[in-house]
Amino acid sequence: MVWPFKEKVSHTDVNIRDDLSTQQRQFADFVRAFPDPVMVLDRNAVVIIANDPATDVLEIDPVGQHLSASIRAPAVLEAVTASLGGAAPSRVEYELRVPLLRHFDVYVSSIPGEPSVLLVLKDLTREQQIERMRADFVANASHELRTPLASLSGFIETLMGAAKNDTAAREKFLETMRIQADRMKRLIDDLLSLSRIEMNVHLRPSGTVDLAHVARHVADIMSVMAKAEGCDLRFDLPERLTVTGDRDELVQVVQNLVENALKYASTGKIIDITGRRDDGHAELSVKDHGPGIAPEHMPRLTERFYRVSVQESRSRGGTGLGLAIVKHILNRHRGRLQIDSELGRGSTFTIRLPTK
Ligand SMILES: Nc1ncnc2c1ncn2[C@@H]1O[C@H](COP(=O)(O)OP(=O)(O)OP(=O)(O)O)[C@@H](O)[C@H]1O
Ligand SMILES: [Mg+2]
Repeated sequence: MVWPFKEKVSHTDVNIRDDLSTQQRQFADFVRAFPDPVMVLDRNAVVIIANDPATDVLEIDPVGQHLSASIRAPAVLEAVTASLGGAAPSRVEYELRVPLLRHFDVYVSSIPGEPSVLLVLKDLTREQQIERMRADFVANASHELRTPLASLSGFIETLMGAAKNDTAAREKFLETMRIQADRMKRLIDDLLSLSRIEMNVHLRPSGTVDLAHVARHVADIMSVMAKAEGCDLRFDLPERLTVTGDRDELVQVVQNLVENALKYASTGKIIDITGRRDDGHAELSVKDHGPGIAPEHMPRLTERFYRVSVQESRSRGGTGLGLAIVKHILNRHRGRLQIDSELGRGSTFTIRLPTK
């Protein structure tokens, strides 16, 4: 199969396509069927075939133009030149900065029997993002565990040394140690809970749950904390608000929202829990009248370990996993979380779930 190679390439993309023989067209169709961006270059490094994914990624139709018009990376151009000179297939990294930062692995290979080169771009952006998130996650989790662990080790040393025979100090230290150990246990429970929910994300729960009942149950569980914070829970719930779901998980969702309202917005004194139904969905809102959340934090609240104030959250025994768990549970339920907040006026966290 001989390509219509020209010494000087002055024709347009249409001309090049018109020049292709039936066999070449079949080959071009084959390339176009590929899901990854693929290009074929002639011996002058002019693009003679590019599939739609390549055109999308490069944001121009590169056919009929020298490769340097679409990929301005010396390493890729060098690999193409080497390949045209008979070098073995190679892989080169390529970074696209506009409109978004994307990383590609470019596979460059000569086509056997043809003075031409095949370029396949593999998008590594998502893989790299996942890898970074995994690394961040391990770093965050280790850091959160190390803090209480360091404090425990410190107290153990003191109890074995300086405070060995000091009964009063021992009592005090043991109490602090218990709090730190509880904190570590809660963190591990939350992490396990997250991984269990993630594992089941494709298994949609099938139970029948009354959200109005869940809300009242959570209010009972939280009543001691509400009293301690001087907060009243106010309800506006229908008799029943039934959804398809997993009751324990939905209790966990509502509990975290009410607990957050009590922890971060108790100055508002009243928390409104409202339920309503519209076609095919049930909604439950937890509204506080506390300090609210600044807009720049809102999109990040459901990230693991994200806290507006790490200090404040930690002092209340928080690890910043609550809303990440809420989001994962809602994903599994095909539901969603909406957060509305205004500084100085309070926040409303609304969960919306399909009733069927
Ligand atoms: N009602 C609220 N008012 C103001 N800030 C809030 C409210 N709810 C959540 N936040 C902010 O969002 C952050 C993340 O909440 P999230 O429930 O994920 O973690 P946490 O409560 O800090 O810890 P955890 O839930 O794991 O015990 C909180 O640390 C807090 O800064
Ligand atoms: Mg929380």
